[in-house]
Amino acid sequence: MNDLTLMIFGASGDLTARKLIPALYQLHCNGFLPQKAAIVGVARREKTDDSFRAEMQAAVREFRKNDYTDELWQAFARRLRYAQVDIESDSAAPALRDRIQSIESEEGLSGNRIVYLATAPELFLPSVEALDKAGLVHPMEQAEKLRVVIEKPFGHDLESAQQLSQSLGRILREKQIYRIDHYLGKETVQNLLLFRFGNSIFEPMFNRNHVDHVQITVAESQGIEGGRGGYYDKSGALRDVLQNHVLQLLSLVAMEPPASFSGEYIRNEKLKVLQSLVPGRSGPVSGWAVAGQYAAAAIKGQRVKAYLDEDRIPTDSRRETFVALEARIDNWRWAGVPFYLRTGKRLPQRVTEIAIQFKLPPLNLFSTVECEGTMCDLVEARPNTLVFHIQPRESITLSFSAKRPGMQYQVQPVDMEFDYQQSFDVAMPEAYERLLLDVIRGDSTLFTRSDELEAAWKFCDPILEAWENPDHHPELYAGGTWGPKAAQELLSRSGRHWYVSEPKSNGHAK
Ligand code: BG6
Repeated sequence: MNDLTLMIFGASGDLTARKLIPALYQLHCNGFLPQKAAIVGVARREKTDDSFRAEMQAAVREFRKNDYTDELWQAFARRLRYAQVDIESDSAAPALRDRIQSIESEEGLSGNRIVYLATAPELFLPSVEALDKAGLVHPMEQAEKLRVVIEKPFGHDLESAQQLSQSLGRILREKQIYRIDHYLGKETVQNLLLFRFGNSIFEPMFNRNHVDHVQITVAESQGIEGGRGGYYDKSGALRDVLQNHVLQLLSLVAMEPPASFSGEYIRNEKLKVLQSLVPGRSGPVSGWAVAGQYAAAAIKGQRVKAYLDEDRIPTDSRRETFVALEARIDNWRWAGVPFYLRTGKRLPQRVTEIAIQFKLPPLNLFSTVECEGTMCDLVEARPNTLVFHIQPRESITLSFSAKRPGMQYQVQPVDMEFDYQQSFDVAMPEAYERLLLDVIRGDSTLFTRSDELEAAWKFCDPILEAWENPDHHPELYAGGTWGPKAAQELLSRSGRHWYVSEPKSNGHAK
């Protein structure tokens, strides 16, 4: 794109200040924005260009502390403009048309447009309709001149996601829609494909012959904060994180090698995984999926609220803040291998990791020990485990057995580790930076296609339905613990345990 008009709908929101503007500032500083580019905040509140700039300056100062300089900011701020538009009012389309046309003509912009929908989900369609009525959607033959980025949640179940896709499809082509899942923009997530398909030694092991089971954990220590109660209580852990971030991680870990490393081929392979996803056990949902809700607790001497006492949460809410489930991928490669998935709020640490546990050797010839200081205990033989530490620790570890020095054959589990900071002395780009740049470049590889999204909803729908039943209540867990007891039982009934890595103390683990 030679020039660009980038509109952010929902410009008064948290996402714009925390993530989008800081990411655009960084792209500007690194020379990735076109020379001529206007970034237009669109929102209902009354603001001038200058007051919008002042708010965004405070945000960049806060969220890009190390990269902020007055000089760079002044150059970036010139690109920022504001359009006061109430998308729900009748005047939305003319207000949008007049403001965008005047900015484009003042700045000499040729109408290459990116629209970022960072609004409440009920405004996605009205926003696109307003753009259309305002004449800002190009005719189909110039479709590449408009790209629309849509934040999650994209629908709240299969039916609503399909309806939204259909309604948007009347105005936009699929290739103009970029459904963002910020997990796909994380460096450590992108490395999953490189690790699997850029090396020859691991890939032959990624299948039912060698893998005992796979675990994916997306844990957060925070509760429902920052006024998100209203959104979260309609959503819950399954819709908020599992349906999108966790299933995207799963599709990358389990997919077949693509015919080539490009958008459609990769998305085709991810889709096949999601289409093969089935419950880990037959029978009712309660036999393979667990819902939990955090209760009040004292964490490190500090009292933390129960979910029901959080801001804007109804006191009788049955919404889950934790979900754990057992799934299987019914395809040739993975048949019979359990995939244990879990995510939740108010857990002991913020950690995202994928653990691939391999099968034990066929015979146990040695005694396995675990040592603390000089004392060693005999323990059960440990399987090899390959762990992708996605965040906050950014590393990959392979644990294996080694002979403990001494006069006997005693086996001790040890780790081999690749650590990003030690291997690459470069700053890791933020997920939103990478993804915004991809939209500017027109590369949709790291965005979710509608069929992938629908396959993910199809898997989640029966769980949601079961949990809608008035007799269903999530199991309470104390804040700061690893979720309800039933989540432990999900694995312990087959003699397995959840993997938890120790937070690292080398400065980049929180
Ligand atoms: C968002 C969810 O998509 O992801 C939040 O809406 C969650 O509830 C967040 O906290 C987690 O993202 P990250 O990058 O901090 O792991």
